[in-house]
Amino acid sequence: MALVIVSETLQLQPWIAALKKAGPEVEILTQQEVKDPGKVEFALAWNHRPGICKEFPNLKTISSMGAGVDHLMKDPDIPQHIRIVRIIDPMLSQDMYEFVLALILSRMKNLRLFQEQQQQKVWKKKRYLRMGQLRVGIMGTGVIGHHVATALLKVGFNVLGWSRTEGQPSGYRKFFGQEQMKDFLNRTDILVCLLPLTPETKGILNRGHLTMLPAGAWVINVGRGGHVVDEELIEVIDSGHLDGASLDVFQEEPLSPQHPFWSHHKIQMTPHNASLTDPDSVAPQILENYYRTLRGEPLLNMVNREAGY
Ligand code: GLV
Repeated sequence: MALVIVSETLQLQPWIAALKKAGPEVEILTQQEVKDPGKVEFALAWNHRPGICKEFPNLKTISSMGAGVDHLMKDPDIPQHIRIVRIIDPMLSQDMYEFVLALILSRMKNLRLFQEQQQQKVWKKKRYLRMGQLRVGIMGTGVIGHHVATALLKVGFNVLGWSRTEGQPSGYRKFFGQEQMKDFLNRTDILVCLLPLTPETKGILNRGHLTMLPAGAWVINVGRGGHVVDEELIEVIDSGHLDGASLDVFQEEPLSPQHPFWSHHKIQMTPHNASLTDPDSVAPQILENYYRTLRGEPLLNMVNREAGY
């Protein structure tokens, strides 16, 4: 039995080192190192080449290398009997909170504006906002979204949440389903998208929804690029309704140099860097699922393939 790591985009060395440290007895191979594909029962994957399952006839479990699994869901060749698991890690949730907080504070205190003014040697004050004056709407209150929501609440923001279906009670006001979307968006000054990407959430940041936000609202997308209808976001910003957007994720990554987001004055871009999985932090849970696979036991952090996350 062996564990294979497959990714077209990630540097695999830190992952191999972390897994070998946490489980020196486990045979850990890259795709190129596999001599006997029949031995591979567990795959750790991020942006793999579709068709991976065909290469490993005895594969039983695929673990995502991150919180998201949309990269796995879009591979039509993963048979139903293969179990898919994802990463749930407090460090990933905390990193996301810190990133979202940094973006919000930077905007409240006009830091981007002052950076531009510095470049032009302009000395000009501007009134800033305080935490209690802003309503932050978290779209997607799963593990990471809920952590971000409660942490923002704790430091003094007004927080509300929206999710597709009714979930656990929380310390902040929650809205559910399409029926309550308008009420949620109407009350949101800063919208933070932390949804998983599924056929239902694809394109959710569209003209119809974005114009339900109050005038002057701001959008932060740290979910997936597929949540945004790019031309409609630009249109709603250019109409003056939205004040701008911070985007960490894109339909195509890296984003093509021709894409209008790069040069849009009101769009702030970061390279899918909000919250990066730390291999040392997550190696133990990956290996735990590896051993459970060996023993035929229920796995941690199973993905509901029906729901897509
Ligand atoms: C990052 O995007 C992740 O899914 O962990």
